[in-house]
Amino acid sequence: MKQTAAAARISETQGAPDYVQHEKLKAWVREIAQLTKPDDIYWCDGSQAEYDRLCNEMVRAGTLIRLSAEKRPNSFLARSDPDDVARMEDRTFVCSKSKDEAGPNNNWIEPAEMKSTLNKLFDGCMRGRTMYVIPFSMGPLGSHISHVGVELTDSPYVVASMRIMTRMGRDALNVLGTDSFFVPCVHSVGMPLAAGQKDVPWPSNKKEKWIVHFPEEKSIWSFGSGYGGNALLGKKCFALRIASIMAREQGWLAEHMLILGIQPPDGEKQYIAAAFPSACGKTNLAMLIPPKALNGWKVTTIGEDIAWIKPGKDGRLYAINPEAGAFGVAPGTSQDTNPNCLAALGSNVIYTNVALTPDGDVWWEGMTKTPPPKLTDWQGKEWTPDSGRKAAHPNARFTVHSSQIPCADPDWENPNGVPISAFLFGGRRSTTVPLVTEAKDWTSGVYLAATMASETTAAMTGAQGVVRRDPFAMLPFCGYHFGDYFKHWLEIGAKVPKPPKIFGVNWFRLDENGKFLWPGFGENMRVLKWIVERCLGRANAVETPLGRAPDFGDLDLGGMTGMTQEKFTKLMSLDKDLWRKELQDHDALFNDLKDKLPGAFKAQRDALANNFG
Ligand code: GTP
Ligand code: SPV
Ligand code: MN
Repeated sequence: MKQTAAAARISETQGAPDYVQHEKLKAWVREIAQLTKPDDIYWCDGSQAEYDRLCNEMVRAGTLIRLSAEKRPNSFLARSDPDDVARMEDRTFVCSKSKDEAGPNNNWIEPAEMKSTLNKLFDGCMRGRTMYVIPFSMGPLGSHISHVGVELTDSPYVVASMRIMTRMGRDALNVLGTDSFFVPCVHSVGMPLAAGQKDVPWPSNKKEKWIVHFPEEKSIWSFGSGYGGNALLGKKCFALRIASIMAREQGWLAEHMLILGIQPPDGEKQYIAAAFPSACGKTNLAMLIPPKALNGWKVTTIGEDIAWIKPGKDGRLYAINPEAGAFGVAPGTSQDTNPNCLAALGSNVIYTNVALTPDGDVWWEGMTKTPPPKLTDWQGKEWTPDSGRKAAHPNARFTVHSSQIPCADPDWENPNGVPISAFLFGGRRSTTVPLVTEAKDWTSGVYLAATMASETTAAMTGAQGVVRRDPFAMLPFCGYHFGDYFKHWLEIGAKVPKPPKIFGVNWFRLDENGKFLWPGFGENMRVLKWIVERCLGRANAVETPLGRAPDFGDLDLGGMTGMTQEKFTKLMSLDKDLWRKELQDHDALFNDLKDKLPGAFKAQRDALANNFG
């Protein structure tokens, strides 16, 4: 009887609102509702009233805690299940028809087998819940670089987050019209409710978590997790994995890159796109404030995590930020490290897994030097500075609309994108890799990016300092075979008349006492200045075995204390033995690519071996 009642309710409400004119979309929503069997279907319009209502409902349900109206107006704290705190790479799958298409860089399961697993998991998985229909545009509405997706989810937290992170609701639906292409995204927390069963604040599935992509269909299915990249399917699943596949087919690039603008005091504004693996400081770099000595220089933010880049008519590459908000790591964000970011977080923010102060404010490790005497930690437990555990989860995040970033570039929503002058690639390397290198040409730049690596942090794996190859910072995000991806990058450079210059950077080199050799953060402006001046053709460089690099006198170190020539030499040094070992690691990566290794890479590798000979 219960089931019949639920089914009746669906048939009453499943009719889409009159303004929905896209028959294929309506049919797909019906089909997924028949499979997942929600109690209700709700089409999101993206309005502020809808957002406010959903947030109030979540406060009543205990999913959100409303923060102090004085300290953090219109802001909320969510506490996730302790088992559902981050993206899960080992539960992420790219199910192309052939395993070879997905490549050694992806987990793969045969698509028919995967679909049979998903059909069982999704059958009835939304019972007792509402299925929300979220039409969203990745990129400014109607931009020729943008694309539309529709996410079906049983999580109101996802709805609220998607409203901050994307252009969501009726406007996105209007872009779709009656028959335009959209990426279908299905998400469930995987915790159906039986009649009368009480919900929990953060529903998820303890046993099964799956984040699945079907490249040929360009569809996404996510089950069991409500957190970040697992659940906000516009982000990593669409804007990187599926988009990278579309980009290859259509001749553009979808990258794990921040985009920033740099206005020199005496020249044309330049835009830089920079790829760093997760937790290597993209958010900080995107919102950098130059040191006083360089205060004629101004940095503005277009994006802080993802870039979509298409060739423009004038022979340059143009980039948009496909997102409309930042889902950034809170711990470590402070007045010293990222004042612009802190200023963005005053109001209208959803915080997840940070600590709560007694007066309804938030706190995280690194926010202030001295922690407050008493907090409620990210799991809702009482916390004091001597409790011996972290108050905020290391991957605690804020969700904030980009318009709140004080240094947002005036063109951050320009539908034509901004022209890119340089690509930067950087990982976390305590040794081996110098502060900055300029690749000689596009091919050696692509080689540099393809062979980049980063050290794992304790927060990530428990094991610290393990070097992991992370080509283009895309290891968890490239939706197809890395060999084909490298080839695509080489082809873009050959096709585009005025490709950007390519640079490698490393803010993370350590001295013999384990201290950072480079102060980083705002001081990174000194490296950016050299890079911009290289692009403008007015800075000096010397040849090194890796490419080109600044000499001590070529970097503007004015007003900086402690950067002696000796220290700079250490920062830039290339150790022959370490580089021979590094080249062996390149070989290991290339072996995995087998016959898809681009031919041009061998010559690059041999030239490096020769230079370090
Ligand atoms: P995702 O959002 O996960 O893609 O990551 P992200 O690239 O935005 O990185 P995140 O903001 O999580 O990186 C923060 C980490 O980088 C913190 O550990 C910072 O202390 C560190 N960090 C950021 N910038 C610098 C820098 O210039 N120098 C050094 N040494 N550390 C930095
Ligand atoms: C990353 O892990 O690179 C992120 C966070 O930006 S998430 O959206 O959760 O993937
Ligand atoms: Mn990221």
